Amino acid sequence: MKKLIIINGPNLNLLGKREPNIYGSLTFTEFMDEVKRKYPEVNLEYYQSNIEGELIDKLHDVGFNYDGIVLNAAAYTHTSVGLGDAIKAIETPVVEVHISNTFGREEFRHQSYISPNAKGVILGFGLQSYELAIQSFL
Ligand code: DQA
Repeated sequence: MKKLIIINGPNLNLLGKREPNIYGSLTFTEFMDEVKRKYPEVNLEYYQSNIEGELIDKLHDVGFNYDGIVLNAAAYTHTSVGLGDAIKAIETPVVEVHISNTFGREEFRHQSYISPNAKGVILGFGLQSYELAIQSFL
């Protein structure tokens, strides 16, 4: 059984409530229930934190014994050298995802410290971005 984890960064705990015109109105819990039902063959975990260092700690924890990491580092994508370095330091491949098409938004969202070290990047497909990332590991 493949062991995968979705890691979400800051403000993504507010999915469903936060700017629904950009991020949709489904909560992440509702989405996770749906995905778990759809992919019973995957051991799928979920972790969210608003704290940069906690996200780095989690990457260290899972980065040597999981088959894949689906990472939406949210705003830290555009600022965090530390998260970029953590991805370089671990062995488990990371697929970077974004709900919105960050290239169609403000210029500061065009920069990513995650992309250079990610296996691939999926963005702009709403919550389906996560599902496509999961499929890439199967
Ligand atoms: C996001 C895009 C980021 O620019 C933003 O800071 C987020 C969410 C997305 O999933 O579209 O919080 O990562």
